[in-house]
Amino acid sequence: MALIDLPLLMKDHVRGKRSAVTCALKCGNACTKETCNSSHNDYFRDVVSGVLSRRLLLGGTAAGALAIGVAGTTGGLGGMAPAAAAPKGSKLDFEAIAPVDYTQDSFVVPEGFSWHPVISWGAKLWSDAPDFDWNAQSGEAQARQFGYNNDYTEIQEIPNSSGKRALMFVNHEYTNENIMFPDSTDAKTLAEVTLAAHGLTVVELKRDSRTAPYAPVVDSEYNRRFLSDTEYDFTGPAVGSDLLKTSQFPKGRHTEGTFGNCSGGLTPWGTLLSGEENFNGYFRTAGTSAEDKRYGLGENDLARGWQEIDPRFDATTEGLENSVNHFGWIVEVDPWDPSSTPRKHTSLGRFKHEGANVIVAENGKVVAYSGDDERFDYLYKFVSEGYYEEGNKKHNMTLLESGDLYVAKFSGNSPASEIDGTGDLPSDGAFDGSGEWLPLVVAGESKVEGMSVEEVLVHTRLAADKVGPTKMDRCEDVEPSLSSRRVYVACTNNSNRGTDGKAGPDEANPRTENRDGHVVEIDEKGDQTSTTFAWNLLLVCGDPETDQGTYFGGYPAEKVSPISCPDNLAFDSVGNLWISTDGAPDGIGYNDGLFRVTLEGDERGRVEQFASMPAQAETCGPIVRDKDRTAFVSVQHPGEDGTFDEPTSMFPEYDGGTGPKPTVVQILPTTSTSPFTDVKPGQEHYEAIVWAWDNQIAKGFPDGTFRPTTPVNRDAMAAFLHRLAGAPKVTPPRSEPFTDVKKGQEHYDAIIWAFQNGIAEGWGDGTFRPTQSITRDAMAAFVYRYAGSPDVAAPSKAPFTDVKPSRKFAKEIAWLKDQGISTGWSDGTFRPSNPMNRDATAAFLYRMRQEKQIAFKAG
Ligand code: FEO
Ligand code: CA
Ligand code: CA
Repeated sequence: MALIDLPLLMKDHVRGKRSAVTCALKCGNACTKETCNSSHNDYFRDVVSGVLSRRLLLGGTAAGALAIGVAGTTGGLGGMAPAAAAPKGSKLDFEAIAPVDYTQDSFVVPEGFSWHPVISWGAKLWSDAPDFDWNAQSGEAQARQFGYNNDYTEIQEIPNSSGKRALMFVNHEYTNENIMFPDSTDAKTLAEVTLAAHGLTVVELKRDSRTAPYAPVVDSEYNRRFLSDTEYDFTGPAVGSDLLKTSQFPKGRHTEGTFGNCSGGLTPWGTLLSGEENFNGYFRTAGTSAEDKRYGLGENDLARGWQEIDPRFDATTEGLENSVNHFGWIVEVDPWDPSSTPRKHTSLGRFKHEGANVIVAENGKVVAYSGDDERFDYLYKFVSEGYYEEGNKKHNMTLLESGDLYVAKFSGNSPASEIDGTGDLPSDGAFDGSGEWLPLVVAGESKVEGMSVEEVLVHTRLAADKVGPTKMDRCEDVEPSLSSRRVYVACTNNSNRGTDGKAGPDEANPRTENRDGHVVEIDEKGDQTSTTFAWNLLLVCGDPETDQGTYFGGYPAEKVSPISCPDNLAFDSVGNLWISTDGAPDGIGYNDGLFRVTLEGDERGRVEQFASMPAQAETCGPIVRDKDRTAFVSVQHPGEDGTFDEPTSMFPEYDGGTGPKPTVVQILPTTSTSPFTDVKPGQEHYEAIVWAWDNQIAKGFPDGTFRPTTPVNRDAMAAFLHRLAGAPKVTPPRSEPFTDVKKGQEHYDAIIWAFQNGIAEGWGDGTFRPTQSITRDAMAAFVYRYAGSPDVAAPSKAPFTDVKPSRKFAKEIAWLKDQGISTGWSDGTFRPSNPMNRDATAAFLYRMRQEKQIAFKAG
């Protein structure tokens, strides 16, 4: 059979380089259809209230409001000078790559980095599943394998695993039938496989060290697939509502499955949120009601055939009409409890949720931001009723069940005549202004005339239409920065802005036919729960070489990487913004990619490309672990314009593969980026040495070597421990404690600090003997004292064959062994009088700090 009828692909309707397949399979050809939001509620009101708010600003608060919009920082980060190399001292240092032409099929990373597939579509999660076989697919197999089109991705380290084990959460947005199946595939198999290829996955990952790539753990107790028959509980005010009742779920309290999941977010309590986005394409409805029209629901041809397996996908069936109301929610999943029931939170409203991201407000409530990813739709914010309690996961997991829901209205501060649709800045030099969060539900009451709370939450788009929010250019990820508390909104594009009958440009969406998108920066006024905010556009995207209407936070446009169609957002540990893109081939003719954007200091707005995707793939789920100098992306729909017989991408199995597979990719520094010429990955204590270098504990020698097997001198040992303690300031001694340690000599401060804190003693003759190598037993004593000389009993039996209980430092050595800091030699000895080498020292310190979290304690 023909897998996907040609009419579904609607090639004729596709513009430029945009893939026809994405349109058909992902969004149900949204761009060929009527704009879902045809409401005329707000455009003229925008203009009027814009004038009002300008007057208010001019009336006295203008300076303050503008200052917040442009340069406000509330996280104490202002004034920090940008680092010369990686901004704000991030350890992920790289030279931006050149953009890659959209016809190229390759995964490109900067010089000094390499990429590794972590897990691909079809990888088995349990050993009883079959190995993936293109020609022998089945729903049963797919249900126990990694799903298709990995989108939102998050990785959390498993505690007490030394960073070697982690839980990965991934959602699977949709399927590309045209490249997944050989022509001989029958309709039943196609339906079963694609159904099981949707949903969610939790999979355990392992790695040999922090600098090694991750691999999946088959048969982990954490592994889990969330399929179409996985039960979900509804929470919040719409639970039990008639709007959620169907003949399959007559109580309206539960449902099964999740579809069209796009982005998501990690909560402060370790659960994942995932947004149900283009769910409408999976259902057939009458398409006649206002609700159907507003949600893009109608008479779909249901090419995947799921209605043959589960009748609710044909929601024209009597009793199943409300099935569509079971989707379009934010889902919360607890990956740590494989038996937990995932939940759909009705308090956050129902729309095409891109995702949701949570921040704990100053007053302890939690705030979740969420975009409705459809042209001319809105930006939302949820504020919890309850308060976050650190460490109380059970309580925190109730926080998204009850609270207030708002929708955003942006007002510009420049005259409407200056927003001409070209992207040219208005005369005040910025697209900026103020905004309001318009209430939809507050304190359990509907704020929307003529609609009950349940109606507002189930038909949120129609409720929002009534209060006059701003029609946005497709809000994708909305992420608060945990360091600055400002909120970033990726508006990916809107080629219909300003076209006939559609809303024209406004200051927050300033370009007509916006093909490249922009990024909004929001600064809540005061508390994160505030109902007013200041905003400005951080980026107006595009290729500045060919497009004058671009803007990069004031940074010189000729020095940035071109960027188009911002989609998913992430932050690194020091607060730089990372953006992954979807649609760049359509916008600027380059493959999609991952970009870093500096937010603070002189280089604010500097965009640097870090990775480029294979042909026809979008970049999803970026995770940046800059402290480990690594990052992850989910590569979605590689080679989507191909066919099964004529693939247009071979990613990621360029060597011997037969077709493209969506894959989670890890990007790592290569061997050549080892900080030392004589230390290579795989050699003993490699990761400890790199960690010591990364953390500026061990610096190496001017010739670029680390000299791992060289003994450590006593002064260097003092220096290592002093740096490990954070290099605290040293009070000059009133008289010198050692005859052979003089002010100004190397490591003087560290030796004095070690002496003053009881870590290092000298010899009976008043010397310290700084350049003598330190023995392993003395090292044990230094480390034991560094940890505050823990109160432990002397050992009653020998901790090592050559360390008798009566020996000097036996207690210290026994403690070291108990803590797992030293394991001794394989022959059972400790060799206490041997010199301590530099690599073993790095290992001792690494285990003590990284694995055991033992901190310096003044003795
Ligand atoms: Fe699935 Fe909003 O992109
Ligand atoms: Ca302005
Ligand atoms: Ca997205």
